[in-house]
Amino acid sequence: MSTPNKKLLILPGDGIGPEVMRQVHRVIEWFDKKRLARFETSEGLVGGCAYDSEGAPISDETMARAQESDAVLFGAVGGPKWEALPFAVRPERGLLRLRKEMGLFANLRPAMVFEPLVGASTLKPEVVSGLDIMILRELTGGVYFGEPRGIETLPNGERRGVNTQVYTTSEIVRVGRVAFELARKRRNKVCSVEKANVMESGELWREEMQKLHDAEYKDVELSHMYADNCAMQLVRNPKQFDVIVTDNLFGDILSDCAAMLTGSLGMLPSASLGAADSTGRRKALYEPVHGSAPDIAGKDIANPLACVLSFAMMLRYSFDMTEQADIVEKAVQSALARGVRTTDIMQPGTARVSTTVMGDTLLRELDKLA
Ligand code: IPM
Ligand code: MG
Repeated sequence: MSTPNKKLLILPGDGIGPEVMRQVHRVIEWFDKKRLARFETSEGLVGGCAYDSEGAPISDETMARAQESDAVLFGAVGGPKWEALPFAVRPERGLLRLRKEMGLFANLRPAMVFEPLVGASTLKPEVVSGLDIMILRELTGGVYFGEPRGIETLPNGERRGVNTQVYTTSEIVRVGRVAFELARKRRNKVCSVEKANVMESGELWREEMQKLHDAEYKDVELSHMYADNCAMQLVRNPKQFDVIVTDNLFGDILSDCAAMLTGSLGMLPSASLGAADSTGRRKALYEPVHGSAPDIAGKDIANPLACVLSFAMMLRYSFDMTEQADIVEKAVQSALARGVRTTDIMQPGTARVSTTVMGDTLLRELDKLA
């Protein structure tokens, strides 16, 4: 029985966010009932719904609660309703503010193929079967936040849009450390990805990764790859990779690509972690890689598994609850092995179920595993 003071802030957000998060709530309640883990949960608004009722994609009050929590569980943000808003109040800014102000520089996006889903991938089974790679995306720097940025009107009346790709040594080294540490617990390989052939920031990235490796992580195998080649290699032969470490923008793109190898974006969880404080505690936010999918929102057909697997990552990375995390992941495995599928991962010979029924199935499998 664990102590009851693990503070979770739950931010379901927009679109399918609330309905997939609902299934995570049921898993949290299940842990509580079985006395396997207890959390103090509270909810808040983020994204378009926060803009509608609080005037900002995330309020200062919600930000403060996020900073005080042991972990934030995040659903998804955005939708057509808010697409014409000024940049500064778009739903996505809520997520970007959380990442930046909580200092969540390390974004772990594991792409794992669950064996029952091998056939759901658009790639040949032999290419993806057994796939288990980790994309580590730098999350608080690069072109997402670099200055100068903006749109200006030139004297000749032409408009000019500017963003800046920028990285400093310390930003590269701290995410590099996370990559090497992760690799040591996996298959001991890191592939660092940039465009050193055309960008100075990429040249710096490559040099700093190599220096860090030579100084502290000689036992880990390090290779370097250009981002365009990496995109190609991910669909050609993804199993060559173990940990891929890359910048914010390349990581955004390559992780969507890696996600699709597993059959559906609806399966992919993620963890965003800050630096460890003196007690070893890290600020943390957990979210499914998929977006708010407004086209299917409210229909009870979205896949809740990425959100549930994000919760499992939280158990593992924020609370060291390895056993509990294993149970959740096994329950997902067994639910899939039973042949239940949400629409996004449908295959011939399996049963199409709703979000809620997927949740029911998970709880039944959890009961068997407890
Ligand atoms: C992601 C998303 C976000 C990003 C959006 C919603 C701002 O695509 O988490 O991958 O670009 O980082
Ligand atoms: Mg993305």
